[in-house]
Amino acid sequence: MCGIVGYVGEKQAKPILINGLLRLEYRGYDSAGIATIEKAGIKCVKNKGRVSDLNNISSINSLEGTIGIGHTRWATHGKPSSTNSHPHLDNSGNFAVVHNGIIENYADLRDFLKSHHYNFLSETDTEVIPNLIHFYYESGKGSSQKRFLKAVIDACKMLKGSYAIEVLSSYYPDNMIVVRKDSPLVIGKGENENYISSDIPAILSFTKDFYLLNDKEFAFISRNSIEFYDENNRPIEKQAKSITWDAGSAEKNGFADFMLKEINEQPKSIRETIGSRISANSESILPDLNLTKSFLKSINKISIIACGTAMHAGLAGKFIFENLCEIPVEVEAASEFRYRNPIINEKTLCLFITQSGETADTIAALKLAKSKGAKTIAISNVVGSSISREADYTLYTHAGPEIAVASTKAYTSQIVLLAIIAINFAEKLEKNNQKIDELKKDILLLPSQVEEVLKSSDKIKDFAKRIYKEKDVFFIGRGIDYTTSLEGSLKLKEISYIHSEAYPSGELKHGPIALIENNVTVVSILTNRLLVEKSISNIQEVVTRGAKTFIVTNQELNYDFDEVIKIPKTNSLISPILSIIPLQLLAYYISKEKGLDVDKPRNLAKSVTVE
Ligand code: F6R
Repeated sequence: MCGIVGYVGEKQAKPILINGLLRLEYRGYDSAGIATIEKAGIKCVKNKGRVSDLNNISSINSLEGTIGIGHTRWATHGKPSSTNSHPHLDNSGNFAVVHNGIIENYADLRDFLKSHHYNFLSETDTEVIPNLIHFYYESGKGSSQKRFLKAVIDACKMLKGSYAIEVLSSYYPDNMIVVRKDSPLVIGKGENENYISSDIPAILSFTKDFYLLNDKEFAFISRNSIEFYDENNRPIEKQAKSITWDAGSAEKNGFADFMLKEINEQPKSIRETIGSRISANSESILPDLNLTKSFLKSINKISIIACGTAMHAGLAGKFIFENLCEIPVEVEAASEFRYRNPIINEKTLCLFITQSGETADTIAALKLAKSKGAKTIAISNVVGSSISREADYTLYTHAGPEIAVASTKAYTSQIVLLAIIAINFAEKLEKNNQKIDELKKDILLLPSQVEEVLKSSDKIKDFAKRIYKEKDVFFIGRGIDYTTSLEGSLKLKEISYIHSEAYPSGELKHGPIALIENNVTVVSILTNRLLVEKSISNIQEVVTRGAKTFIVTNQELNYDFDEVIKIPKTNSLISPILSIIPLQLLAYYISKEKGLDVDKPRNLAKSVTVE
């Protein structure tokens, strides 16, 4: 939630900040703003609305400084408005701050500052930060950089909650201080310039060398140097990491939207996830996961914990692990797991799935699992993300940057990686050898099979044109197809704003069938030969009641359904990887027909870094 960007260098900061913010808009787009250091002090331009709207504000033309900060907001405290937009300045106008996260004790801090005669203009939690910095700065002496740093460190000691913060001060026109705790922030190292951002892709076109801050680490940044300090103001050493993503992977490359590009990238992203981890005739290789056979034999439960789409990948993973490893698996939303005192201990293996690696609930759930003695594995797409710094082991999906708010390629890569982990465990446990050999071959076929599914695009687009004005759509499936229904339904509602629900096919007649009436669309996924007859009966039940039917199947069906999208046959354990693609496209084309912003659906942000 919220994106922040910063620049300290020799070039004009404004275009660099605007460019970075446009790339971070997927994190929130309620308001935007930038501040730069000018000869006359800090100048700030901000407003309600999109980043591109900033260019319509005439005062932006006077920002010429070469050091600046920027923010694109997903509103939490205070409605979207110009006053509530970041950057926020302290009462003296000498400190400017942008912030991503939530300051939980802001009300107490406001009272404290008010008792020292500070005023507040906005309704935000953030405005306490520049004023606290000013408060502590005033109690310091001299004008050395140390005084500035100490004031920021002292202010942060007062904060409870999560934050990634950039601070400018007119007293230190060549410097910026940044810090993070439970919110993402990376520093990109250039030649005589440094970049700051909430994520790597936003500044990937400028540099490939990044510093990743741990919680409560501070960076004092100038053009030619970056010094790091811990929360006790002691200098620390950090090494830059080189990132292998190419800048083009964060561009649309001729596609109308990032979502369409990312859907179409799935043959490649799946190939990257597979990498050299499995091959047809040898054992799987997961060098980053050296769990022993005796440990795997000792565990009595696998818990998969995640949010949203990542949790749906986990639901598919449950089928794979239970089938291959014969260990019971439970799957739970991170936001529920952490508040119910789950029964887990050193005999539980916990898997946390998160594309961004920054989802607050998933990270908090991981910390809880660790505190109870469980072994923790994170599955993430973002190298060096917060979760990777907490988990015992981290495996990366390598799907490349996912920019569209609606997750597509990350989901299919997550299931591929779960299948590979399950294969790895089953090999160590010496279980289901033959099944594993077959599954490996099927996984290796996936990239070309996905290419095949993508060819149905035009048919799906035509069906989207028929149903885009509808109010309700139902998704049904049995077994692993039900998990795909859940994901298909989520995709549709988040980008088309059409109400949709997913049910196990057999559950329809226990209530929801009352909602089926003439012309309602029912999407049905049907990939398991053993469940075909039963599932067809369920579809017939809705057809009889007048429903329109959109079927995704790898079976031969001799029935007169409204639209049937054929997908290639594969092992049913990995079938969601193929069957979700028509549903991603359906949601995409419906959203386009409705003229909506596919990549930035209302009220949503890509990284949910608040609880
Ligand atoms: C839906 C979507 C969300 C995310 C969820 C978890 O398309 O993208 O439901 O899957 O917010 O995000 P990560 O995977 O980053 O933890």
